[in-house]
Amino acid sequence: MIRFEHVSKLYDGKIQALEDVSFQVNQGEFVYIVGPSGAGKTTLLKLMDKQENLTTGSLQMGSMLVERIRPSQTYILRRQIGIVLQRDLFIPYLNVAENISYSLAALGVNDPQQQQIKTQKVLTAVGMTAYQKRLPAELSVGQRKKIAIARALINQPPILLADEPTANLDAKSAVEIMRLFFKFNLGGMTVMIATHDSTIVNSLRHRVLELQKGKIVRDEDNGKYSTNSDSKDIYIW
Ligand SMILES: Nc1ncnc2c1ncn2[C@@H]1O[C@H](COP(=O)(O)OP(=O)(O)OP(=O)(O)O)[C@@H](O)[C@H]1O
Ligand SMILES: [Mg+2]
Repeated sequence: MIRFEHVSKLYDGKIQALEDVSFQVNQGEFVYIVGPSGAGKTTLLKLMDKQENLTTGSLQMGSMLVERIRPSQTYILRRQIGIVLQRDLFIPYLNVAENISYSLAALGVNDPQQQQIKTQKVLTAVGMTAYQKRLPAELSVGQRKKIAIARALINQPPILLADEPTANLDAKSAVEIMRLFFKFNLGGMTVMIATHDSTIVNSLRHRVLELQKGKIVRDEDNGKYSTNSDSKDIYIW
């Protein structure tokens, strides 16, 4: 279970990225986080894996209170959470399989045989075993995204967070990526996706949390991307 209670986040003591955010997500839910650029979507995700610390309020992730976790214990939280960042960062001189195995070492799994088994499992889950010897630079944007998803899944986390996973993808690749998230969600994983992709949110309906200027302005089951007309419907000449 994920529970935000009156969470606020100030960057540098002055930039209010989130303000009095409260909501709860139960295990196995699928949630879109929408809102304009700068609304606080990425910040919301970063609080959950403690890349950033909240300023006030309380955040519960499973049995842990994130604000109470000491830096040396952060890895315990991160084992529970897979995260796909807005930009996929890979080590350029390691191939795909090595990049994934490397992330396991960061989680404290150092046995090469375990690393190999887990890496093959997640590559299979995203349909990318054929590309495991390639370097990151030798992949398309969509293929790289699948590898980033595989890496996020490496420890079979109960929670998967993704920040704009379909940005810069063509429609077919975007649908393939979304299919992966739905597949994992059907397996019981909690999935939270920050997105600007109104077509996906409107056609594959799930719970929608909408942020504006750091505040939750909507929390709707089977919601649309926007309560107003879709910006993509506006023609500009
Ligand atoms: N590291 C940081 N230091 C200072 N301010 C930051 C930092 N990261 C984000 N902000 C500010 O916090 C606010 C929320 O940013 P955030 O990145 O969470 O928005 P977002 O909804 O993810 O936007 P986008 O859709 O463009 O990705 C913005 O005003 C942003 O300028
Ligand atoms: Mg963002």
